[in-house]
Amino acid sequence: MTLTIGVDVGGTKVAGGVVDDTGEVLVQTRRDTPADDVGKTRDVIIELVGELAAGRTIEAVGIGAAGWIDASRSTVLFAPNLAWRDEPLRDYVSKAVGLPVIVENDANVAAWAEFRYGAARDADDSMIMFTIGTGVGGGIVLGGELMRGAHGIAAELGHMLAVPDGHQCGCGRLGCIEQYASGSALVRFARAGARQEPNRATALLALAGGEAEAITGPMVTAAAQGGDPVSAEAFAQIGRWLGTSLADMAQILDPQTLVVGGGVIDAGDLLLGPTRRSYLDALAQRGRLPVAQVLPAELGNSAGVIGAADLARRI
Ligand code: BGC
Ligand code: NA
Ligand code: ZN
Repeated sequence: MTLTIGVDVGGTKVAGGVVDDTGEVLVQTRRDTPADDVGKTRDVIIELVGELAAGRTIEAVGIGAAGWIDASRSTVLFAPNLAWRDEPLRDYVSKAVGLPVIVENDANVAAWAEFRYGAARDADDSMIMFTIGTGVGGGIVLGGELMRGAHGIAAELGHMLAVPDGHQCGCGRLGCIEQYASGSALVRFARAGARQEPNRATALLALAGGEAEAITGPMVTAAAQGGDPVSAEAFAQIGRWLGTSLADMAQILDPQTLVVGGGVIDAGDLLLGPTRRSYLDALAQRGRLPVAQVLPAELGNSAGVIGAADLARRI
């Protein structure tokens, strides 16, 4: 049995785990992501890997990071929601831990994990995944392989255009789908709803101490599950946007399976109901032609760790 380490670097947490060749996570650990500090984030990754590797024979390390990664899978070129700019992460970590390292996009690694071991494990050819968090990430598997594109940066699905001249995106452009279907958009919609119709958002506002600006994603989920209408509508809004993007991707690539992941899927049908409706509406012209189903991700928080570790095994 060979072991590899997967590390998932997100905006709030750095998670790491030792994974075997069946996709099982043997040990897992996590730290807070040092805010806006590239050097400290690197050091946290190295510390985590050192801790996980101690006393074990590890073959390689895979790192999933929320940004554009170059074709050689070594450098984080740019990250809309993290401080990394042209960061040579692979060589830095590899030197420090004495193991082969690959760096891959966070949503690509999550998609790979769901394709191999999760919601899309029955698909043997193709799947497309959207990850809904601070940003909107994407991963595409075609012909059983992760699609990286000519420059390593394929499947940046969050930066497809949703609204011309719309909301400012972290990538520098206006109106990306990330600004309408992310966890951040969910919170923005919920805050706006609570300001406009406080009487219909009493449950949500109670969780936020009466302050619309204090509303967080988990509060919106909790309130929506308890029947708060403004919170449920915030989920329906991001679901409607997400459904149109899923339909666009199905039109382009006709995959076997579509998967939606990220913390927001804890809301279950509150998100997936509107998402599926909008997806099927957008595909109405396809009539009785076959279309991929939209499935919730199954590996939760561990998808990044599992996918990164599995890709590291294939260096
Ligand atoms: C970034 C992607 C990332 C996604 C999810 C987007 O803003 O451009 O690279 O996969 O967020 O973290
Ligand atoms: Na991606
Ligand atoms: Zn963008």
